[in-house]
Amino acid sequence: MTNSGRSLLVLVCVLGLAASDEAQVAPLIANIGGRSTISLNGQWQVIVDPYDVGYVDYRAQAIKNKNAFYTDYKPQSKSELVEYDFDTSGHLNVPGDWNTQRESLLFYEGSVWYKRSFAYIKKANTRVFVHFGAANYLANVYLNGEELGTHRGGFTPFDFEITDRVKGEGNFLVVRVNDTRHKEEVPTVNTDWWNYGGITRPVTLVEVPETFIQDYEVQLEKGSTKEIRGWVQLNGRQLQQNVTVRIPEAGVSKTVRTNAAGRAEFSFPADLRLWSPETPKLYAVEISAETDKVTEPIGFRSISVRGTDILLNGKPIFLRGINIHEEAPLHASRSWSEDDARVLLGWAKELGCNFVRLAHYPHNEAMLRMADRMGVLVWEEVPVYWTIQWENPDTLQNAKNQLGEAITRDHNRAALIIYSVANETPIGEARNHFLGELIQEAHTGDPTRLVTAALQASERQDANGLHIRIEDPIAKELDVMGNNEYIGWYAHAIADLDKTDWSSDYDKPLIMSEWGGDALFGYHGDAETRFTEEYQEKLYEHQVAMLKRITFLRGTTPWILKDFRSPRRTLPGIEDYFNRKGLVSDRGEKKKAFFVLQKFYGELQGSTQ
Ligand code: GCU
Repeated sequence: MTNSGRSLLVLVCVLGLAASDEAQVAPLIANIGGRSTISLNGQWQVIVDPYDVGYVDYRAQAIKNKNAFYTDYKPQSKSELVEYDFDTSGHLNVPGDWNTQRESLLFYEGSVWYKRSFAYIKKANTRVFVHFGAANYLANVYLNGEELGTHRGGFTPFDFEITDRVKGEGNFLVVRVNDTRHKEEVPTVNTDWWNYGGITRPVTLVEVPETFIQDYEVQLEKGSTKEIRGWVQLNGRQLQQNVTVRIPEAGVSKTVRTNAAGRAEFSFPADLRLWSPETPKLYAVEISAETDKVTEPIGFRSISVRGTDILLNGKPIFLRGINIHEEAPLHASRSWSEDDARVLLGWAKELGCNFVRLAHYPHNEAMLRMADRMGVLVWEEVPVYWTIQWENPDTLQNAKNQLGEAITRDHNRAALIIYSVANETPIGEARNHFLGELIQEAHTGDPTRLVTAALQASERQDANGLHIRIEDPIAKELDVMGNNEYIGWYAHAIADLDKTDWSSDYDKPLIMSEWGGDALFGYHGDAETRFTEEYQEKLYEHQVAMLKRITFLRGTTPWILKDFRSPRRTLPGIEDYFNRKGLVSDRGEKKKAFFVLQKFYGELQGSTQ
């Protein structure tokens, strides 16, 4: 969706011409942290509803009467039949997945109803939105017994306007969260990560003026280090206003006037200290309209490609990376906080990383903002993972929505340099078309950043060794090629790495986006024994040696920083429902291979200084 497409959607929503269910989600408000907010985090009352009796009747028809849990109906007499009660059904923390809060819910997939009561002091000339950082997977949201709308997708934010619905006292917000997996969804039914359900990120009441600054982009012009280019989008009745973009510390400002749709574009020169991993400089950027003002810390850097090089601020860079799943560092549950982000990125920096791949879905906003502050470049991905329903137009629209929401949330993050539209997807006409659409969506939605996908190159083996070639047709449309390989673990022996060469049909940079093997921390033996630290260590040594020989390699992100929960990993005493390819165990213990990678990245750092 182009920028003007996104603001058209905003306009449609402003005018309230809701098309489908999802259209009832309000326009996404950018930079929640820079607004007047009230947190609704904490203990929420919940009802676990495996058969959705609070949503459909025994004929699977939607119920709209007192039996619908969103009405929070109370029996009016001792003889009235009501078979649910939020007040006596227990609590769960929000934000938080439900799986790790109650042992009985660890493997649970289905519906859980959440209820949060709150009072609210109405203010003149003020609109109120309820904002969700994310809820996995499908969220039906109700306020005071009325439906606000539905959101689909477990890893991106959404909000609803409640200005005309919120009361002073006795408000009750009810959310039905359902994480049942379905073929046509994104992701589809099969993943190698835990399907953590629930309201997994913060819930916030956001107060804004009647006409407010809905969204804006303030970034360097593509390929420039001296020219700022951006836009601002207002939302409300007073759409034509003077808006000033100011960077006090850099002594620059620009005033523009928004058009009838509340939108204005701008560009102006600025002499800025550029953001980089070594110097993650953030400027306080002020956006002031006649009716609203927002400030945000933003870094300025340029990212581009030239042949097989990736250029940061015009200079070639090698991306020393690691994969991360969105799990708390020392408690295998969905992470959402700044503290979690600081620890995870801290481990990555200890490895010598200047880059992380946030797999396989948009991680929480705290992670992106922490990467901005700590100077860690980011690969962000939408969960188009393995075998999606390529022919299904709803599935494509769903993937586009998730990408659009991620772009809207993160397009001012200097750390974010690359969007990934897919992971390990089978080459085929329908798939190529699907990914082609997504790549275009990313490029038009955010022309300042690069686009990639994690591919799987084809291989040929002969007496001389393994010959691996990147020839996936979709790579033609990518700025950077990602590639996953598990030589020495899922296929071939570790020694084969020494006789493996790489080539490509494309004059483009390669990021080796996954490689590695499992090891149980503390399990020691000879390097031929699977799951020992010694096997993983040796695998890393030979992988690193192979990577050094690939002439068009410009980055790598081994799989993975930390052991993480996976329903696909059942081996007792070793996996116990954990993928053990981490360099750090799920208790934060560093495995031998951690130091192999740290040494490699230390050498690279030494060679670029
Ligand atoms: C895959 C996949 C990961 C998975 C990993 C593994 O390639 O992208 O999500 O966890 O390999 O098998 O460990």
